[in-house]
Order: sequence, then C-alpha cells, then structure tokens
Amino acid sequence: MCGIVAYIGNQEAYPILIKGLRRLEYRGYDSAGICLLGENLNIYKCKGKVSDLETFAKGKDIVGTIGIGHTRWATHGEPNDLNAHPHYSGNEKLAIIHNGIIENYDSLKKELIQRGHEFKSDTDTEVLIHLIEDVQENENLPLAEAVRVALTQVVGAYAIAVLDKSDTNVIIGAKKGSPMVVGIGKDEFFLASDATPIVEYTKEVVYLEDEQIVELRRGQGVKVRSIENEVLTPYIHELEMHLETLEKGGYEHFMLKEIFEQPKSIADSMRGRYHIDSGTVSLGGIIDYEQKMANAKRIIIVACGTSWHAGLVGEYLIEDLARIPVEVEYASEFRYRNPIIGEDDVVIAISQSGETADTLAALELAKSKGATIIGVCNVVGSTISRITDAGSYTHAGPEIGVASTKAFTSQVTVLFLMAMRLAHKRGSIPESRFQQLLAALEKIPAKVEEALQSADLVKYIAGQYKDAHNFLYLGRGYNFPVALEGALKLKEISYIHAEGYPAAEMKHGPIALIDEEMPVVVIATKKGSYDKVISNIQEVKARKGKIIAVVTKGDTTAAELADHVLEIPETEEELVPILASIPLQLLSYYIAVMRGCNVDQPRNLAKSVTVE
Ligand code: G6P
Repeated sequence: MCGIVAYIGNQEAYPILIKGLRRLEYRGYDSAGICLLGENLNIYKCKGKVSDLETFAKGKDIVGTIGIGHTRWATHGEPNDLNAHPHYSGNEKLAIIHNGIIENYDSLKKELIQRGHEFKSDTDTEVLIHLIEDVQENENLPLAEAVRVALTQVVGAYAIAVLDKSDTNVIIGAKKGSPMVVGIGKDEFFLASDATPIVEYTKEVVYLEDEQIVELRRGQGVKVRSIENEVLTPYIHELEMHLETLEKGGYEHFMLKEIFEQPKSIADSMRGRYHIDSGTVSLGGIIDYEQKMANAKRIIIVACGTSWHAGLVGEYLIEDLARIPVEVEYASEFRYRNPIIGEDDVVIAISQSGETADTLAALELAKSKGATIIGVCNVVGSTISRITDAGSYTHAGPEIGVASTKAFTSQVTVLFLMAMRLAHKRGSIPESRFQQLLAALEKIPAKVEEALQSADLVKYIAGQYKDAHNFLYLGRGYNFPVALEGALKLKEISYIHAEGYPAAEMKHGPIALIDEEMPVVVIATKKGSYDKVISNIQEVKARKGKIIAVVTKGDTTAAELADHVLEIPETEEELVPILASIPLQLLSYYIAVMRGCNVDQPRNLAKSVTVE
C-alpha cells in the first residue's frame, strides 16, 4: 500500500527519491509523485508507474537536496493525477505525502471550507495539509509545531512527511498506525515506509512509534517528540537487511526468484532452532513465554491472506502435536465481532509485513483483554513484532513479489517448530515421533530443492490450462490449507477465478461446476486421507474434469487417474504443506506469465495492507 520516501542532505534528492519509489513499488500502488524543494516547491505526480512519473518529470525543474516521494494506493478518490500525492496546502507553501486514512476528514474539510479553504482533490490527505496550514497561519507556529497541533485534531492512521517552502532545511515526519522509518546517514536523513529505500545509504535507523513526530533538520540530530509535546530519545537500530535481497538477481521476476530461494529461506527459518545432536527444538524469541503458551487454555491465531492460510496449517500442527485447542480467525472479523478473550488465552499474529492494519488491531484488542500476544513476522522491526510480548521471526528475507511464496513456507516452518517445542514441553508427543519429525525437518530444504526441479513440467502444464476461466483446488487435512493457498496464488496473479475447497466438501456445491472445461488441482500425497482423496479424484474424473494431481514421488494410483502428475518428495505428513506448495506456486507463476500479467505487481493488490 502507499509508500513514502523523503530525503534531506547534500546530494540531489531526485534520483534518491526515484530509486526509493522503485524499491517501494512492491507494496502496490496506482499513482506516484514527488515534491522537490529548491528555489521553488515543485510537485510532479501522475497516475501509473514510477516510470511514468520519470517521463513526466523529464526536462522539468528537479533541482533540490530536499524532497519527498510517494506511491499511492487509492482509498479516498479514484487513482488519477489530481488525487496522486504530494498535495499542496492552499497557499502552495506546504506539501505533504501520506500513508493511511484520516477518518474524520469529512468534518475537518467542512470546517476548513467554512473558513475559506478550497480543495482540488478528493483526498483526505489534502484536508490534512490544509489543516496544518490553517494552524500554522492562525497560530503563527513553526512547521513542526503546526503539524503536531494539527494532528491532535485528527482521527485515523497516518505516516506523513511535510515540506515547507519557507524553510529549506527541514522535513517533518509523523506517524500513527502506518509505518515510518528514519535513516540516519552522514549529514543526511531519510524517511520511508520501510527500510528498503534506505538500506543502500545507511544501516542506522530509528523506527518511529505511534503519535511521534520527527524533525529532520540539516546540521542537527534526529529530534523526536510525542504528540503531547514530550521530548523523546530516539533509539537507533542497526539494519540487518542486505541490498542484494532487494534485487532480481538474474530472474525475470521477483516472484520466481523468491520461489527458487525457498531452500535457503526455509533453512534460514530453521537455523539455530533445531538441534539434531540433542534432539531438541528451541525458539529464543518466545522462551520467556513458552510456559504461558504451553499452559494456554486456547490459542487463537489471527492473520490475513496467505498468512491466514499458514495459520490454518498452524492450527493442525499445534492441535495435532501439542494438543492445545486452536482457533484461526481472519483478523478483520475478529477485531469487530466482540470475541471472548481471557488472560489464559494466547493470541498469535502471523504477518509477513508485520504491518497489516487488521492484524495489528486484532492484536491490540487481544492485548487489551489481557491475553498474551505472540508474533510470527518476517519484517524485522515491524510494528507487530514490536508490540507483541514475544515472537519468532521467520527470517525469510525481504519478499518483494506481492504474491507471497517464501514467506508462506517460512511461516509454516516456524509454526511447525513452535508446535514441536510446545509438544515437547507438554509431553504430548512420543519421543520417538518427535525425533522422527525432527529428522524429517532437517531434510526439508533439500526436498524443496528437489520439488523445484519440476519447474519445466509445471510450465508445460501451465501452457495447457492458461486459458481456463476457472480452477478448483482440492485437499484434505494438512493439504486443505495448501489448496486454499494454491487457489489464492492463481487468482492473485493470473486473474483466473479459482477456489480452494476441502476435497470432501466438493460434493456440497463445487461438483456442480465440474465439466471437461474445469481443471481441478488435487493434492493427493500419501498418508493422511490419501484413499479418500483418490475417491474424490474418481468423482471429478467421472464428470470429465481435468485433473492435475500433486502426488508423492513414485505414486502410481493417483498417476493413473490424473491427466497430469506433479511429484514431490516423500516426507512426514506434518511437513507436506511446505513441499506441496512449491508446484502450486510455480503453476500460478507460469500461467500468469503466459497470460501477460504483471506478476510482481498484480492489479489492485498491495503487499503491505496498512489500511483496514
Ligand atoms: C496482502 C498481501 C498478501 C498477504 C496479506 C497479509 O493481501 O498481498 O500476500 O498475505 O496482505 O499480509 P501480511 O503482511 O500480514 O502477511
């Protein structure tokens, strides 16, 4: 979702801002813009991609060592040139970029109109900059103070950066609800939605907390104040991110790179957390809360999108191995349905970005009711990872493709480790089984590597079905969430309608759709409900549906029935979701590429959903 980047220093701001916007493209957006403060306060913005913005700015005055840039994912007002950020204040002396939603913008706008303000766009953001201008002029305040006072009147979420034509030495930033990171270089500062535009220049960052305002002034240190005007001491973190993880590294798309990175990303998720010699599992981040988790009356998992699918696998794993009751909830439903939560509950939030607004709100609700809150996040230093009592990072590395791939398999890996740890602690698993699972886990990265070798075959199958209008994905047990995730991947990036279903539920509806036009992907790996899945394949076949089966290597029964077979190496049932996801990720990728879709930035989707 919206990305913000800002720069103040000795270098020309324009190339830094453009590069920064490119790094933020992965978040999803539909227009882009920049504002440079040189002799003038120049705004250039347009609908479309950052490359369109570059074309638009060509030949114009782009001089200035201070500037702000924005990628907008439309909320208030359609994606067009006018609604794109930055926005000027009424007197055009101030400019703002904003990520978030000002919920009371309508009443603020009415008041401002009564005071003579005129608006050019439909955005809530323009209202905010007019409000700041109003405060600045009426109360004769310096910019930082005007921003602070204006924000006391605002309800909603924001990460903003503001420039003032009359003070070419300062950028003011502020945040509540939406993320914001400050980068501290040598005689220069950066401000961004995440660290990706910053890492190239400095590793020293400050993560702003909610209701904090930052003043970045040339020749001075970072000044942070609370919205109540309390002076705060910023805590400087060292970034762990590496630049090469943000580049395509020879692959055609980030998504393909990330699919092929999985042997490494999964190994990174496991590293230092399983110990073959001692036959144990340990998760340093939750060590102080392990007992609490092991004693929990109930574990509630909250998440959105792909992370919710990982949560479903987590439910099966924790109930199966640790025998603790688990519920998995869409964070957006949980937060608004007045759920019953008590102090004996443990709420686990799963989030790649660690910024998803609904997941964050669900956690805050759980915290307010006294529950222990645990995070499973990928982005180090993200908001969720900071507000939780404890947690385990997935360590998958930056995921740039909007469709989540390596983050999913890493989430499942961490949930597996968590379930194993809790099972050991509770004594709910026979030691021999524990050791068997541990040995199987160790082999997973190599088996993922092997599963990836089916890429050419998957590409061939993709060619056969690229023009299908619908797809059905079926699985049972641990493979049911895999079916949901497979269907989500396909619809996200190829725009083909796809549904995931528990295989047995097919009879209660989707079977009506099956004919010779309908490709049905069935995850039919050995163990679990294998025989029952074979019966489901028979039912599809009897109605002339086309079957693409994901099977365990060497399986002949499913292979005889299916039109196409994709083999994955044998492993323990609890670990199959990791391997079975691989061919499904590849299938959606190749179909999307063959349909000419923008795989890394699918239409309308955002990577980091920072509004509800
Ligand atoms: C968006 C992304 C999905 C992601 C979901 C949850 O919809 O496009 O890939 O699964 O948000 O995001 P999170 O960062 O919380 O895992």
